[in-house]
Amino acid sequence: MENAVKTHLTLAALLATLTLPALADRLPVPNHPLYREECGSCHLAYPPQLLDAHSWLQVMNGLDKHFGSDASLDEKRRAAIADFLGRNAGGRKTGVTADAKGQPLLRISDTAYFQRKHREVDASVWKRPAIKSPANCAACHVNAAAGDYSERSIRIPK
Ligand code: HEC
Ligand code: HEC
Repeated sequence: MENAVKTHLTLAALLATLTLPALADRLPVPNHPLYREECGSCHLAYPPQLLDAHSWLQVMNGLDKHFGSDASLDEKRRAAIADFLGRNAGGRKTGVTADAKGQPLLRISDTAYFQRKHREVDASVWKRPAIKSPANCAACHVNAAAGDYSERSIRIPK
């Protein structure tokens, strides 16, 4: 019995190590219909893992002035989504998402993690008409809605 449990644990640990590298380009959005509905209408429902909890709190406290748009919600919905984002916020992947002065960053595209991963994308590419902005993840990551950011699912529009 003891041995069986041990073997099982070792195997699980081994499997976890083997699958980790493949998971680096996977950012599945935990299922939350309200989040998808309210935060996926103007743009992709971004992976909560890509900002830390402070950043999400700040985004959710300023929805009336949301990057030049009004994305305000009634308090019940706002609180439910803020809670969901806080619980699923990043940390391990992105570290603290704050600027040099310690202010929470509001944009995933301003984080060190994002910039490191996109270092090879030329500044002019972001401005192409079919892309417009680094925030437009799905323009290049064709399976972004499914949480797939792998290299083979990237098509950069000309
Ligand atoms: C009315 C439309 C609208 C709704 C609804 C909306 N957003 Fe946005 N959001 C925008 C616009 C516009 C931008 C800026 C896009 C750009 O720079 O190209 C943006 C950008 C963002 C960014 C920064 C992206 C980046 O990395 O540059 C985050 C994070 C974000 N929204 C989160 C949310 C969340 C969370 C919700 C739901 C509470 C939400 N948005 C709902 C319009 C909206
Ligand atoms: C101009 C096209 C483009 C846009 C827009 C874009 N990306 Fe990327 N992304 C790339 C390229 C190119 C790479 C690098 C692929 C490589 O080197 O393996 C990349 C890499 C990544 C990776 C790393 C995947 C891995 O293998 O580790 C993640 C995560 C990612 N992008 C997320 C996002 C998110 C989230 C957004 C939107 C906020 C976004 N990207 C917007 C082109 C884009």
